[in-house]
Amino acid sequence: MASGKAPPFPSPRNMARNDRMSTTFQLDTSTSRANPTPAPMRRLTVPRIRQRKQGGVTAEPIVMLTAYTARQAQLLDPHCDILLIGDSLGQVIYGLPSSIPVTLEMMANHAAAVVRGSYHSLVVVDMPFGSYEASPQKAFESAAYLLKFSGAAAVKLEGGQAMAETVAFLTQRGIPVLGHVGLTPQAVNVLGGYMARGRSDAEADKIVSDAKALDEAGAFAIVVEGVVEPIAVAVQKAATCPVIGIGASAQCDGQVLVTEDMLGMFERVPRFVKRYGEIAETISATAAQYAADVRSRVFPGEEQTYQPKV
Ligand code: KIV
Repeated sequence: MASGKAPPFPSPRNMARNDRMSTTFQLDTSTSRANPTPAPMRRLTVPRIRQRKQGGVTAEPIVMLTAYTARQAQLLDPHCDILLIGDSLGQVIYGLPSSIPVTLEMMANHAAAVVRGSYHSLVVVDMPFGSYEASPQKAFESAAYLLKFSGAAAVKLEGGQAMAETVAFLTQRGIPVLGHVGLTPQAVNVLGGYMARGRSDAEADKIVSDAKALDEAGAFAIVVEGVVEPIAVAVQKAATCPVIGIGASAQCDGQVLVTEDMLGMFERVPRFVKRYGEIAETISATAAQYAADVRSRVFPGEEQTYQPKV
């Protein structure tokens, strides 16, 4: 596709055109700033991730991070098992107030970039709010579009029991699903905020039964977000599939964070985030140095300036 932008979500009128398109080519390292393309590796598959949990135990915890761009994917890929194009890109990349306004086209474009930049990790793409809740059929159309356009291998969607039928419908039709229970940010308008969930017995029971319902429906793994630790542990024990925690417990079968949060890109992050870097300070100090060099005419120097050949 010439523009590199995701086509509009398929309608009967444009479906045939969308069906022919693919963006799943690899980075051309002769024309991009990317590192040399590593020797092709076998990508991790959904069954291999699912099989990491055997008899309730995961010997090697699953490492998952969000990724939104090709270069970010290249840097994260060798260290991760799963790269998630989270709809958190609404806030992180687009400066939106929540993930509610995120569209299928945004998800498709970023997912295609992450697939191009990765060779090893399983790539999972979030289904944005409004693209799957109405019916299993609507969810299938949206998920099929995301996978066809981007080359990602699986989708993630939020919700428990209410989504179990949809999870079964997708899985039985070739679309692997990563579930998401506990604090589900797309439900912010119902929940009234992003507070940790499961502080009442009723809420705790609901989160565990939500996870069980997704597990039984065929989810290959489940993210549990923002819950008090005993609930995360109960979910890990209740689900036969791997449970990946965020603001949950070290006893989960794996962990996920928003990459920019753990890199130190933002001043304000949830309490459960561990900052592994101070990237915002690095960017700010580097930009300040550039600005000073431009203003004092130190940049460009001789090395960065073309001279006529003599
Ligand atoms: O959107 C996202 O980034 C997520 C992860 C935090 C799990 O859902």
